[in-house]
Amino acid sequence: MSLSPRQRACLDAMGIDVWVRREPVAETVTPVAAEPAPVPVSPAAEPTPASAPGSDVATLDWAALEARVADCTLCDLHATRTKPVFGVGHREARLMFVGEAPGAEEDRQGEPFVGRAGKLLDAMLRAIGRDRNSVYIANILKCRPPNNRDPKPEEAAACTPYLWRQIALVQPDLIVALGRIAAQRLLDTSSSLARLRGTVHELAPTGTPLIVTYHPAYLLRSPGEKRKAWQDLKFARDFVARRSAS
Ligand code: URA
Repeated sequence: MSLSPRQRACLDAMGIDVWVRREPVAETVTPVAAEPAPVPVSPAAEPTPASAPGSDVATLDWAALEARVADCTLCDLHATRTKPVFGVGHREARLMFVGEAPGAEEDRQGEPFVGRAGKLLDAMLRAIGRDRNSVYIANILKCRPPNNRDPKPEEAAACTPYLWRQIALVQPDLIVALGRIAAQRLLDTSSSLARLRGTVHELAPTGTPLIVTYHPAYLLRSPGEKRKAWQDLKFARDFVARRSAS
């Protein structure tokens, strides 16, 4: 496939050398299976049980959901956050990205992926002809964990019903999990990112197809992996295009 000057510029911004895209293998190796390979439904991946606090989350519309997140005190992170980070983008997007949790800049601005990793995500989106207004972007956690530590299981358990509801409202054709933490939480698995990448999974509660790629913050630390992320993004772009055409 030939690339437009704009796409080339975007790949430059991602730090991907132009020659990489001309390698025959880069065009012929498909990073993920063409058809979804379902993962087993796991009870732990189901939405919050009806008896739990916040159990009506699955019935909320966008406005009520956003208000609920703004007022949420279900875990300790509400006490240390500046702003909750609800999500951003097109609420009927075909393509949805899910990251881990807000960082310092996201906590200040109340928007996901606006720091250094976010700049790279923007470049990745541009490379597939998208921007943050034409996809939907959310995180596993809506509030920043202090010092950017990993989410605790109880924090993720309290917060993920909000994400399940966002997914149910958006109804994307494909979710891209950004990094190990998002992938493991969404798929309720402890498998490594390397194992999860390269397959189309199926999200247990909704059946939504999901692929896994590297977190942009990891790509900033390990630029050598950007080539694989580019493969994943091209797959996502083409998967969504195929769905729209059918
Ligand atoms: N990292 C994430 O996983 N999400 C953000 O919103 C920002 C950085």
